[in-house]
Amino acid sequence: MSSSPPRAITDLHSHLVPGVDDGAASVAESLEALRQLRSEGVVRLVTTPHILLPRLDTDAAVERELERQRSAFDTLRVAAAGRDDVPAFALGQEIWAPDVAQAARIARHPALGLGGTDYLLIEFGFDLQGDHTDVVTLVLDSGRRVIVAHPERYAYLPEHDPIETMQRWRELGALLQVNVGSFGGHYLSGRPRSAELAWQMVELGIADLLSTDHHGPRRSGVSPVEAYDALVARGRAADARRLMELNPGAIARGDVLTPLSHPVAPVGEMPQHAAAGHRRPEGP
Ligand SMILES: [Fe+2]
Repeated sequence: MSSSPPRAITDLHSHLVPGVDDGAASVAESLEALRQLRSEGVVRLVTTPHILLPRLDTDAAVERELERQRSAFDTLRVAAAGRDDVPAFALGQEIWAPDVAQAARIARHPALGLGGTDYLLIEFGFDLQGDHTDVVTLVLDSGRRVIVAHPERYAYLPEHDPIETMQRWRELGALLQVNVGSFGGHYLSGRPRSAELAWQMVELGIADLLSTDHHGPRRSGVSPVEAYDALVARGRAADARRLMELNPGAIARGDVLTPLSHPVAPVGEMPQHAAAGHRRPEGP
């Protein structure tokens, strides 16, 4: 059992829209996952079914997929109405955009974003083909904000150092999302460096938020409590709160979070850049 204080976690990456991707397969599975997350302190969640752009040949195919996801999400919303044992939840997407041509198809799409915000959760594909800075730049130049999904799980090209590449994404303005399962080594069999990179990202101050990437009952390694407590156990309680409560909470509200280059904070202190609700003075 956890000895940490009560939490108000916001989870911005999960696959809990029933029956639309490789996540929860039914309303019952979705509700059970939501109930489990609420019991672990998740009060707010944006669920993010896959939008696999390379497999959606045309704009019409993208629209059909979005409509399919919206419809299944509405079914879940109706099923959860009135329940007080699940988090408040909204709809987003995890968008597979491996190159600029794919990213350009959707960057300005008004129906895309985490819970109606400007933030797009982007994945580049697990085996990177470049440094993908061009994708980050294109999406940002389109007036959207970028969250890179689980960079600790990618296989980087030999000429690209993972941490340096992540720092480049961040310096361009992207935020970096780490999966909670990475801290306990959940992805080590496929990605041997994922745990080491996840911890390094926290220690270097280049992790911006942690999320479950919950795929329903057939996958483990999705406990927010385990990750939260693992950080606390390493003297990183302030990071745990920032990465699981404050930052994702601010993003879900549509506030602007700005990644800074050198935000390493002493243990126990809240890094200045991480204050929820930090707003850019002007612009879109
Ligand atoms: Fe995902």
